[in-house]
Amino acid sequence: MREINYKEMKFNPFNLIGDEWMLISAGNEKTGCNTMTASWGHLGSIWGSNDPTAVVYIRQSRYTKQFVDAETHFTLCVMDKSFKKQMGYLGSVSGRDEDKIAKAGLTPVFSDQSVYFQEAKLVLICKKVYVQNLQESGFVEKATLDKFYANGDMHTMYIGKIEKVLVRDDEYIA
Ligand SMILES: Cc1cc2nc3c(=O)[nH]c(=O)nc-3n(C[C@H](O)[C@H](O)[C@H](O)COP(=O)(O)O)c2cc1C
Repeated sequence: MREINYKEMKFNPFNLIGDEWMLISAGNEKTGCNTMTASWGHLGSIWGSNDPTAVVYIRQSRYTKQFVDAETHFTLCVMDKSFKKQMGYLGSVSGRDEDKIAKAGLTPVFSDQSVYFQEAKLVLICKKVYVQNLQESGFVEKATLDKFYANGDMHTMYIGKIEKVLVRDDEYIA
């Protein structure tokens, strides 16, 4: 993979996150790593126009959360369409119960204080800069709270500063 400047990127973030999905991963070579599928998140800027950031939301029950919490960095990997079935699997089974990464045929690359997958076509390496649990009191529309959090398994929001963008080919380059 090769590194590009984030300003060279070209894609529709709604399609990329909402439809193509991404893998949130964290860990290190010594203690291991985990990954999960995510389709909720944001890309943009905060705290300076040259500080690109990614926001992800991870429920407290996810095993991946333990890894993201323990590490300084996490990564976001976008996979080729041919991995859609594996993405479904990685988003429905917990790494607590199975060696999901091996079963999905993914090869972890431990680099840049985090982990990503050799098979990814786009990788965002993110440094955690802000972590906050979503609060019940913050929901303007209570119906959203009732619909998504009836069992109290709230999401934690992670803002990551995008430190590096890696691409496999020219698909995401303007
Ligand atoms: C398409 C898709 C999108 C998902 N998006 C999210 C998400 O944004 N946040 C989240 O907490 N869980 C999300 N999930 C659920 C987790 O990926 C799933 O619970 C996973 O099995 C957690 O694995 P873990 O316990 O190994 O971390 C999504 C699942 C799928 C299939």
